[in-house]
Amino acid sequence: MKVQEARYVMSNSDYLKCPEPDLPEYAFIGRSNVGKSSLINMLTGKKALAKTSQQPGKTQLINHFIINETWYLVDLPGYGYAKVSKTEREKWEKMINDYLYNRPNLICTFLLIDVRHSALAVDLEFMAQLGEAGIPFHIIFTKADKLKSGQVNTQVEAYKAKLAEIWEEIPPVFVTSAEKNEGRDPVLQAIEAYNRA
Ligand code: GTP
Ligand code: MG
Repeated sequence: MKVQEARYVMSNSDYLKCPEPDLPEYAFIGRSNVGKSSLINMLTGKKALAKTSQQPGKTQLINHFIINETWYLVDLPGYGYAKVSKTEREKWEKMINDYLYNRPNLICTFLLIDVRHSALAVDLEFMAQLGEAGIPFHIIFTKADKLKSGQVNTQVEAYKAKLAEIWEEIPPVFVTSAEKNEGRDPVLQAIEAYNRA
C-alpha cells in the first residue's frame, strides 16, 4: 500500500472527543521513548508529522492522523515513564486505557518494544490486559539499527520464546528502524489486509 496522503487531524485527552469512529483505526502503544511517534513518521514518509523527542514523555495526548482519507493512525502517550509524578502517570494510563477499551473502530494495536530490551514486566502486563480485553495486537521491535542484524535476530527469538511461555499463539512480529527507514512495507501490508477484510 502506498501512503499518498497523511494529515494531522486532532489531539484529545478524552476519547469521546476523538473523530467520528467511522473509519478503521490503528494505534501505536508502548513505553515512553520506544519510538511510537518516529515510527508513524517513517510509515507515512513525513518526518515531522508526529512530534518526537529524545526525552521520554513527549506525546501527551491521543493524536489522530488520517491516511489516504480512508483510515486513521493514532499516536498515544507512552506508559511506564518513571520520571513523571504518579498522578500524571495515572492520568496518562487512564487516557490510554479509556481510549483502547472504548474506541469502537479500533481494529488492531501495534505494541512497540525496543529490540535491545529483554521482556519487561510492564510490557508483558500491558499485553495481558489487551488479551483480556480482546484487543488484537501485533508486536513491532524498534530501533533495529542500534544492534547488528545477528543480535536483532537473537533478541527477537528470545522475546518470542518468552511470549510462547505465556501465549498459545504468538502475535505477528515486525522489526523496524525509523532511523534507517526499515521494516515499513510489512507493517503497511498488515494494515492493508485489515482494511480489505
Ligand atoms: P513518547 O512520545 O515520549 O512516549 O515517545 P515515543 O515512543 O513517541 O518515541 P519517539 O518517536 O519520540 O522517539 C524517542 C527517541 O528515540 C527519539 O530520540 C528518536 O529519534 C529515537 N528513535 C526512534 N526510533 C528510532 C530508531 O528506529 N532508531 C534510532 N536509532 N532511534 C530511534
Ligand atoms: Mg511519542
